[in-house]
Amino acid sequence: MTVDDFIAGLPKAELHLHIEGSLEPEMLFSLARRNRLSIPFDSVDALRAAYNFSNLQDFLDIYYQGAAVLRTEADFHDLALAYFDRVAADGVVHAEIFFDPQTHTGRGIPFSVVADGLLAGMAAAETRHGLTSRLILSFLRHLPEADAFATLAAAEPWLDRIAAVGLDSSELGHPPGKFAQVFAAAGGLGLKRVAHAGEEGPPAYVLQALDLLRIDRLDHGNRALEDPALTTRLATERMTLTVCPLSNLRLCVVDDLASHPIARMLRLGLRATVNSDDPAYFGGYINDNYRAVAPLLTREDLIALARNSLSGSFLPPDEVARHLAAVDTYVRTAGASPLEAGDAQGYKTP
Ligand code: ADE
Ligand code: ZN
Repeated sequence: MTVDDFIAGLPKAELHLHIEGSLEPEMLFSLARRNRLSIPFDSVDALRAAYNFSNLQDFLDIYYQGAAVLRTEADFHDLALAYFDRVAADGVVHAEIFFDPQTHTGRGIPFSVVADGLLAGMAAAETRHGLTSRLILSFLRHLPEADAFATLAAAEPWLDRIAAVGLDSSELGHPPGKFAQVFAAAGGLGLKRVAHAGEEGPPAYVLQALDLLRIDRLDHGNRALEDPALTTRLATERMTLTVCPLSNLRLCVVDDLASHPIARMLRLGLRATVNSDDPAYFGGYINDNYRAVAPLLTREDLIALARNSLSGSFLPPDEVARHLAAVDTYVRTAGASPLEAGDAQGYKTP
């Protein structure tokens, strides 16, 4: 068995995925046609060629432009189902997906169209693949907190189908503390809380996410490693970090994959996971991300990453236990065969 095969068969959860970031250029063009919209690119290849980013803002500018082709409930359904179809083949058994309602309500698409379309796609994926999922309503941090409050109010009829609130978009200049009140309100409504922090922002932003937003999970968190006391705290509190290697590469958060901190995070006792962030823009889905960092990791690390993704999910304990047992079974059976030697993409031996 090759390392790639081992990764492919490993049961895992994806905990950091922006559903709008799974909009492949081909679907972008077909939705533009279906909705009679024009886009400023002549071809799929020309669009893909524009996916060349120097930082987070570069990416966000093109990502928000792309999301504008999503208009109807069917569009959101098709987008979600295409993602689930794709990752069911990657061994994903559960996914917790971000959606950015303000990206859509801001251009006149009702919250109901977005939420009902995504929920329909999620239900179809469960029927088709047995793949379960949850929604994370993510606030856009470049907008005022008052807009986040309005979004939370609009979401009220759907709160029983939303697992958590999140915080994304332009990090620098928009510290987590700006959203302390709305996160407190969301917590009061029984929602879990997650936030992007430490992707481009300093360790102080991670500290604010912990202390002011009272997060249950940290999205990215790379720059937390600059602060040893903060790193120790994250490890002690068993905080799950949703790390996104190919995103980090494409947004220049790391210089190259060889210097990606995922192995260091595991050695420091952090509960790190591997995720794709915006796979249509960053060159790969979840298993591409596992494979990208496999040369830095041991076989036990790969198993730990998959286990962390399941235990860091918002599934009830009995479902987590069932998935962890499936990992154990996989590791004992298929995973027990020796790996093929000489695999250039292989994992590190201990
Ligand atoms: N929105 C979509 N992807 C994002 C990322 N990696 N960081 C912040 N906001 C995002
Ligand atoms: Zn993200």
